Amino acid sequence: EIFTNKLDANNFLKNINLPIVIKADGLAAGKGVYICKTSSDCSVAIDEIFGGRFGKAELVLIEEFLSGEEMSYFVISDGKTFKSFQTAQDHKRVGERDTGPNTGGMGAYSPSRLNNTKLEKKINEKIIKPTLIGLSQLNTKYIGFLYVGLMIIKNEPYLIEFNVRMGDPECQTILPLLKTDLGKIIYSCCEENLANIKIEWKNQKSLCVVLCSKGYPGDYKKNIKIENLKNTQKLEDQFIFHAGTKFNEGEFYSTGGRVLNIVSISDTFKDCKEKTYETLKKLNWENGFYRNDIGYKVINQ
Ligand code: GLY
Repeated sequence: EIFTNKLDANNFLKNINLPIVIKADGLAAGKGVYICKTSSDCSVAIDEIFGGRFGKAELVLIEEFLSGEEMSYFVISDGKTFKSFQTAQDHKRVGERDTGPNTGGMGAYSPSRLNNTKLEKKINEKIIKPTLIGLSQLNTKYIGFLYVGLMIIKNEPYLIEFNVRMGDPECQTILPLLKTDLGKIIYSCCEENLANIKIEWKNQKSLCVVLCSKGYPGDYKKNIKIENLKNTQKLEDQFIFHAGTKFNEGEFYSTGGRVLNIVSISDTFKDCKEKTYETLKKLNWENGFYRNDIGYKVINQ
């Protein structure tokens, strides 16, 4: 439910099951979300949001609390049809075992361990198809990637968010598994011809670890030389994607919080992990840090 004033919000909260999620509407740097376990938590949230803690509050959102595991599901659409574009799971928290503040993403792996044929069918039937049909009824052809952020609870998909793009760092894990020419897929969407393209994938696993500047997601220094990067040979089936770097007079420097993405593909997640961390150790960037446990839930598969 959405409320415009404290009275209505508090009245609604009298008759709901706890825990419940209360959100400030709009951008709040990832901070305007309260998970309320007691009615006094609810009162604090409503008072703080309408009291202006996150800027002038016009609206408050009250949402069901979902306890499950997140999965990123991607599709590509040409406005007439859509095709699955793989699954991934990312690690958003800065600390090991998914603790600490949220970040833009510390690492990811693909495919998601949660996906299966039955779940994918439910996602397509209950979420993707009604969304794309709804858009076309509004005379809006949706052409491009759709990122479906889901919570999976007992093999049931709950929609958390849509993004009209690929995911970061999920994209870095998915594209290295693609066998079909990405240009041809995108062109077929422009031509509304996606139905006639077969999208083929490597039957392998992929894992990405993000090398960050020390201090991220808080304050960090920029323009620090990444000494060993130009001399580090990547391993077979490995990719180093630049996110926050610049190249100046033969040297690489950091320019952001998330600096490099090291991605490895292989037959097992364990092997992906070993190869990725081997390269991170060789890079040995003094100003950087990374999570050591990316993919910990799948690493034995
Ligand atoms: N990995 C989360 C996002 O791209 O929004």
